[in-house]
Amino acid sequence: MGKVYLVGAGPGASDLLTLRAAEILKRAELVFHDSLVHPQTLALAARARKILVGKRSGRHSTAQSFINKRLVDAARKHAVVVRLKGGDPLLFGRAQEEIDALRRAGIDFEIVPGVTAATAAGAELGVSLTRRGLARHVAFVTPRAGQGERKNDWAASVLAADTAVIYMGAGLAEEISTELIARGKPKATPLALVESATLPGRRILRGTLADLPALALGTGGGPAVVLLGEVLRAASAEPVLAEKIEAILKRA
Ligand SMILES: C[S@@+](CC[C@H](N)C(=O)[O-])C[C@H]1O[C@@H](n2cnc3c(N)ncnc32)[C@H](O)[C@@H]1O
Repeated sequence: MGKVYLVGAGPGASDLLTLRAAEILKRAELVFHDSLVHPQTLALAARARKILVGKRSGRHSTAQSFINKRLVDAARKHAVVVRLKGGDPLLFGRAQEEIDALRRAGIDFEIVPGVTAATAAGAELGVSLTRRGLARHVAFVTPRAGQGERKNDWAASVLAADTAVIYMGAGLAEEISTELIARGKPKATPLALVESATLPGRRILRGTLADLPALALGTGGGPAVVLLGEVLRAASAEPVLAEKIEAILKRA
């Protein structure tokens, strides 16, 4: 019996891979990877057969149950099998279904974390997602639900959070903006849309919650996250204004 490694490939740039992930990729015999994984990251798995099982929403993808079965079958024939996922495997990556299938089959597995899109986008913006006195509650949400899946109240989490990062939301910009404003989020809430964070085609669009549908028209089809919250106002402000914000925070 082999072992399956669920490995986070990070948000894009291959040098954001962890050392542990790189070492496992070097030893891999089989790599099942998502479509967004960087070619230089895949190249580290020099000995491995690479199989694309990737998903981009709305496009053809391999059924999850089939991926689960392939991982189990592969571990019965190969010592080192890697399931390479964009970002961190445990966020919006359907990892639990794979973990459950491996557990049921009695296959040994290990999870290797990766840099998730939210923190990569924060880094691109030069903005801390938390900020002393201003933001102590960060929510990672997605409004996107698969076919037949129960809808969740993603908007309630965004309304409650000081900073929210919305994954897989650029194609739902109109719905996101309308829903949040209708439920009381101020139209002027500072917002940024970060597309292809850490990659050469990176795009950063800044505005307010009310601007989101217009901003989304300016994206080029790469993966994108929407960030919103007061931390973005402080960071994008002119230096003088930033000092004033700092002074207000100190008084509060
Ligand atoms: C299926 S989810 C996977 C998330 C991934 N597991 C993570 O931790 O980042 C794919 C979504 O992640 C976000 N994403 C992934 N890579 C990104 C990048 N380089 N820049 C901006 N957003 C990204 C987008 O919202 C995209 O639709």
